[in-house]
Amino acid sequence: MMSQSQHKIEIFNIPTSQSEYATTTMAGGRSKAHEVDQESSSNLPFKNDNTLEPYQILDAFTVCFKHILDSPELDSFIQKVKSDLYNRDYIAAFNDDNKRFGYASRWSPSRALAYASLFSNLQPITDMLQEPELVKRVLCVGGGAGSEIVGLGAVFCRLKEYNPNSSSQLDITVVDIADWSMVVSHLSNYMQQNWVHRESSLNTSFIHEDILSAKIEDLASLDLITLLFTTNELFAEKRKETIKFLHTLSNGCKSGTLLLIAESAGSFSHITIGNKQFPVQFLIDTILVGKQGELNGPWEIVSESESIWYRVNEREVSYPLKLENMRFFYRLYRKK
Ligand SMILES: C[S@@+](CC[C@H](N)C(=O)[O-])C[C@H]1O[C@@H](n2cnc3c(N)ncnc32)[C@H](O)[C@@H]1O
Repeated sequence: MMSQSQHKIEIFNIPTSQSEYATTTMAGGRSKAHEVDQESSSNLPFKNDNTLEPYQILDAFTVCFKHILDSPELDSFIQKVKSDLYNRDYIAAFNDDNKRFGYASRWSPSRALAYASLFSNLQPITDMLQEPELVKRVLCVGGGAGSEIVGLGAVFCRLKEYNPNSSSQLDITVVDIADWSMVVSHLSNYMQQNWVHRESSLNTSFIHEDILSAKIEDLASLDLITLLFTTNELFAEKRKETIKFLHTLSNGCKSGTLLLIAESAGSFSHITIGNKQFPVQFLIDTILVGKQGELNGPWEIVSESESIWYRVNEREVSYPLKLENMRFFYRLYRKK
């Protein structure tokens, strides 16, 4: 069951919207055009061959967050964050390391498991991560709590096991409005020391900035941008600037760049333009892929789900705090 405060956080989440681009392409060659059925959900596997084992992902958090997991005050740190999030005071929620490590220790491990499963089941992403020679660059917007860097690291490092001495490299840049630098550096050091043969093949840098006013260097060199459980917050903070940010991505990214957006499924947020209300996702699709029926925008949708589950098999793994199942919506776009 979701707590009241979680529910409040998810109030901004993107709705399930009717879409005509309903094609799901998963790694392993399955490709299926389908009618969008808002009631049905598909499932991500708990584990698979394209990512490290769930226990290895959880070990990263257990080791890096030992100090906070052992703290007698952990529960009070988590309660403080919940209370700030309930009041939608996102800045206060993440304004000190105890609250940041507390939040990340509670929520990031299950998200990292789900994201590793999602990334490893999206063929355009696994193709990019297993490329044997080149440097691949990923930008994680709002990724300070660490789940997406660990999810990406788990897939990259597993795929690299097939070519351990290859020159391929993954450079992840995280931009977040809260100062998650310690969380990111703990997790990044762990992955470098435990998951790859050559430390410099997996690099993470953290930029403490508001993405809506930041100047993003080198957009044209990015292979993947993630906006996981962050887009709705951006729209809630500054709608016009968020639309401008999406246009900046469209203007600056090279052909082939992937853009992954995920939000919690099943809750609706609408924005009012003039006297009409639109689901946020409808607006994002219109900006990125063009009006329905025209598809003349700068991006195409290569994979999507209105509702997908990741369920933790608690018989196989253990972690000191509860591991949450996740149901979410995602769209993977590719720049034309
Ligand atoms: C709900 S959390 C999601 C965390 C993570 N992406 C995940 O899925 O586990 C939203 C994140 O977006 C960040 N954020 C919110 N507004 C932002 C902005 N304007 N620029 C950069 N980051 C922002 C928050 O600090 C927070 O880390």
